[in-house]
Amino acid sequence: MWSPTQRPCDEKPDHWRAVHSPGKTVFHAEKNRLSAALKFFITPDDDVLVWNLKLANLSNETRKLDVFAYSELSQLEWKSETMWGYYIKHMLKVWHDKKTDSVIYLDHLGGARTEDVPLVFFASSRKSRSFAGSREAFMGPYRDERLPLGVEKGHCGNSELHTGEPCAALQNRVSIAPGQEIELNFFLGVAPSALKKFKEAHTKLAAILVKLRKEDGVAREEAKLDQWWGEHLEKYQCQIPDKTAMRQINLWSPVNSVHTGRYSRSVNTAAPGIRGIGFRDSCQDMLAVAYRKPEWAVKMFLYLLSQQYRDGHAVHSTNPEEREPPSISIHSDDHLWLPLLAYAIFAETGDKSLFTKKVLFLSEKDHVSAAGSATVWEHLMRCVKFTETHLGSHKIPLTLKSDWNDIIGKFAQKGKGESVFAGQQYLVALKYLSQIAECIGRLTDREWLEDCIKRQSDALIACAWDGKWWRRGFDDDGRPVGSSKSPFGKIFVNPQSWAVLSGLGTLEQRQKGMLAARKLDTGIGIKILDPGFKTWPHIKDPFSGYGPGTGENGAIFCHANTWAIMAEALLGNAERAWKYFTQLIPHNIIQKVGIDRYEAEPYAWVSNIIGPENPRFGWANVTQITGTAPWMDVAATQYLLGIRPTAKGLLVAPCIPSGWKGFKVSRRYRGCLLGIEIVNSHAAGRRGRKVCIDGKELPAHEDVLITNQMLLGKNKLKITINF
Ligand code: GLC
Repeated sequence: MWSPTQRPCDEKPDHWRAVHSPGKTVFHAEKNRLSAALKFFITPDDDVLVWNLKLANLSNETRKLDVFAYSELSQLEWKSETMWGYYIKHMLKVWHDKKTDSVIYLDHLGGARTEDVPLVFFASSRKSRSFAGSREAFMGPYRDERLPLGVEKGHCGNSELHTGEPCAALQNRVSIAPGQEIELNFFLGVAPSALKKFKEAHTKLAAILVKLRKEDGVAREEAKLDQWWGEHLEKYQCQIPDKTAMRQINLWSPVNSVHTGRYSRSVNTAAPGIRGIGFRDSCQDMLAVAYRKPEWAVKMFLYLLSQQYRDGHAVHSTNPEEREPPSISIHSDDHLWLPLLAYAIFAETGDKSLFTKKVLFLSEKDHVSAAGSATVWEHLMRCVKFTETHLGSHKIPLTLKSDWNDIIGKFAQKGKGESVFAGQQYLVALKYLSQIAECIGRLTDREWLEDCIKRQSDALIACAWDGKWWRRGFDDDGRPVGSSKSPFGKIFVNPQSWAVLSGLGTLEQRQKGMLAARKLDTGIGIKILDPGFKTWPHIKDPFSGYGPGTGENGAIFCHANTWAIMAEALLGNAERAWKYFTQLIPHNIIQKVGIDRYEAEPYAWVSNIIGPENPRFGWANVTQITGTAPWMDVAATQYLLGIRPTAKGLLVAPCIPSGWKGFKVSRRYRGCLLGIEIVNSHAAGRRGRKVCIDGKELPAHEDVLITNQMLLGKNKLKITINF
């Protein structure tokens, strides 16, 4: 008895490997001249996880096998199972449905969420030989998945369940001739609303199974899935000399950004799936969706706007799936991400009608109902009004509960602390809004926005420069945070990078700030601050809780590294910018520190990596559901390779290592397929700058901008830039 997934059986395959690709994972295994390929994917149109198993007989004898597929079934919700599972287990049922030959599971709890209760089913593409619905009966007393009683006996036991711990197991018996390959499928799925409308749910289940059991049923679903990913990825593909970076940019960053776009901060291999949609998080996730699937980003943007209050601030997180109230703490940054997302969408589509759409506000009374509506533009103006009315004694934003950094509010518990980073983010937001105002003819608003920019820049310049770098902010007593005079946390990376992103101060100050930030580079990523705050027994330290080198207290915060990459690229420091990018690519880090230290997927971005102040330096934390993913995507495609949508058109402003001879990008933009070729004349041994669009040579400006006019009537455009 062995498993193509390697676990849980004790007996291991002779050869084994796992292959991940967008939306799919395949486990390949071989044992005793029998090879297995087990592929998992979710059908695009229904909620079904397909287990597609191919078995090939490599021996000279006919092989007779029993194939057992098993899934532990949890109760409906993780939270209620943890708290009430010992009662709820009496309210559920698992049985075998003869009509569809499937194991069906129904939870009778319902309660406030009756309409959400689904019909869970598990079925096979072939006729099943036996089944189980009771975990205890299938597993046997004192046994576990390594050797279930049902498998040992060669029969699942046909147990149905009227109270207890549910599972779904199925047995298929197959015979495979020498050299023959057979295919069988298992389907674990849900049909909606089973408690309220059982008949409809059952009909839906039956229809899904009829579709999937057709000869080409599974192949068709897989093709649909491949097509979705193909279109998503095709939007931007590069050819660059660094193969690892290329794979990350073309494949894993966008794949990871789809996951954060879908699940926000809700679920990964470590998170239980109950954190909902983080407001700031989803705004940032959508930045990477905006240039590939603007219509999806618009939908999310409009939803997020509906979670904004009339005074301009926004909720901190929402739980639409759970239909639970939002988290309502007030932060200096949440609402300020909205203008960044608005700009990203507008820059991609050029669609001005977005700003006249009407969206509801959220009621301050119950945080659930709506309180009047306003245009998208007015919503955005209210973001500005909120920050303008929540400035501190230095005239920069009050930190409130926190800014982007969850922990920074510890310096502002009396409500007086101020945030330089929020001030810089505010500047970026204002500048984007001012550009949009110009495009949509909101000239009075534009004047006001420009005035806000001037006042905020002046205020930051007056208080935020520490001499060699930018400070992080001020605590409740007006003492600077992130200053050479601070005992801990003398320098933070974010105010250095955001000074560049927001164009704050002089060029010399911005360069100096990024130069100072270089000492935060550990060789596998940049620490968020240095030195870390000492925790217990120094209980008075504001960052107490996180030990030095962990989390926001000095870990390599990958999310924050993305902004340093963008800042170095904007300053034209190509080697440095690419170093910061490539050193964090999981595949590269794993080569350096080893998978046993890193302990995370080689293809997914992580939120943070333990820093050198902690003995577990190199340990990666919070994979997949992190702002690192969308920002790495944006940093690489739009700042390093430099193909960046702006309010005026698509800017081509690459920043590549001097040794590169050039690179190519194919980019779909406003209905046109752009073939962009950048030649580094210097490295290629040629000279001079030349810009060619569609065969016509253009005056060689600093930046190349692809405008609507150039795209007129074309569905393909070739752009060559020699520099
Ligand atoms: C975590 C949080 C995110 C926050 C960041 C920095 O990633 O999910 O919301 O901005 O930490 O504190």
